[in-house]
Amino acid sequence: MPHFLDLSSPTAAGLRAILDEAHRRKAARTGWARGRMDCDAPLAGHTLAMVFEKPSTRTRFSFDMAMRQLGGSTIVSGAGDMQLGRGESIADTARVIGRMVDAVMLRTGVHDKLEQFAEAASVPVINGLTDLSHPCQVMADIMTFEERAGRPVTGSSWAYVGDGNNMTNSLIEASSMLKFDLRVGVPHGFDPDAGVMATACARGGCIDLVHNAAAAVEGAEVVVTDTWVSMGQRDSKEKIAAMMPFQVNAALMAKAAPDALFLHCLPAHRGEEVTDAVLDGPQSAAWDEAENRLHAQKAILLWCMGKL
Ligand code: CP
Ligand code: NVA
Repeated sequence: MPHFLDLSSPTAAGLRAILDEAHRRKAARTGWARGRMDCDAPLAGHTLAMVFEKPSTRTRFSFDMAMRQLGGSTIVSGAGDMQLGRGESIADTARVIGRMVDAVMLRTGVHDKLEQFAEAASVPVINGLTDLSHPCQVMADIMTFEERAGRPVTGSSWAYVGDGNNMTNSLIEASSMLKFDLRVGVPHGFDPDAGVMATACARGGCIDLVHNAAAAVEGAEVVVTDTWVSMGQRDSKEKIAAMMPFQVNAALMAKAAPDALFLHCLPAHRGEEVTDAVLDGPQSAAWDEAENRLHAQKAILLWCMGKL
C-alpha cells in the first residue's frame, strides 16, 4: 500500500517523481482560476478524508484545493467530532473510513498512532504532521528551493536553526534521501530525534548537528526555522530564553550565502524564531512555500493513488 508516512516511504526516485510532477502541474496552471480543474482531472470520482487531531490552516486548505484541482472531493473532520474522540480505537476508525474513501490524511500527535492507522486502513494514508515528522511540508520546501534556484536540490547546502522538532526530523530524512547537505543548529537539550538522525546517517546522509546558530548557517544556501513551541508542547520562559540566540534575524542571515533563501513552514511567531525584517524581506520565500503545499500535495496524492 503506497502510504506517505515519511520521506522514506517512497524511494529517492519516487520523491524525485513527486517533485517533478509538482513543478509540472504548477507550471501548467499559470494564470488559471484557482478553482479550475487540471485538464486531465486524474482523481475524478476519488475522495480524500482528512482527520485533524490538531489545528491546521495550510495543510487543510492545500489538501482540499489539491483534491478539487485533481477532480476529486474531500471529507474533513476534527477528531473531537468523531467517535475517535470518545474512545473508538484508531484501528477501528481506520477500518471504517478505509471502506468509504480512497485515501486518508491524518494529523495527529504520537507517530505510532499514524502507523497504527495505516496498518489497519485498506487505502493509502498520508502524514499530515505528527510530533515526529512533517513530510508533506518538507516536499513543499524542497520544491520552493528548486523553483527559486532553478536546479535540483541534490548537492545544495541547507541550515536549520531553532528547536529540534518534527520539521527538523523530516529535513534530516530528506537530506539523506535526496542527497543535500544539512547543518542543524539547536540549543543543547533540544536535539532532533536520535533515531531519525541515526537512520539518515546510516543511509549516507551528510548532516552536521551543532549547538551554535552562526556555525549552522555559515555559507548555507537555504536557512530554515520553525516555531520554538510546537503544537502540544508546553510553552516556557526557559525554553524561549534558550532559543533566543537561534533567532533568524538580519545578522544571522548575513552569515549565510549571499542571497540565501529563507524558509519557514508557518505559522510564524514574529519576534521569536524570526524577525519581521527576515520573514517579510527579499530573501524570504515563505509565502511561495505556503502556496507550494498545494502543488506538492497534488503530486503526493497522485503517487499514493498509483497515478504517477
Ligand atoms: N505548515 C503547516 O503545516 O501549517 P498548518 O499547521 O497551518 O497546516
Ligand atoms: N513544528 C510545528 C509545525 C507546525 C506546522 C508544530 O508541530 O506545531
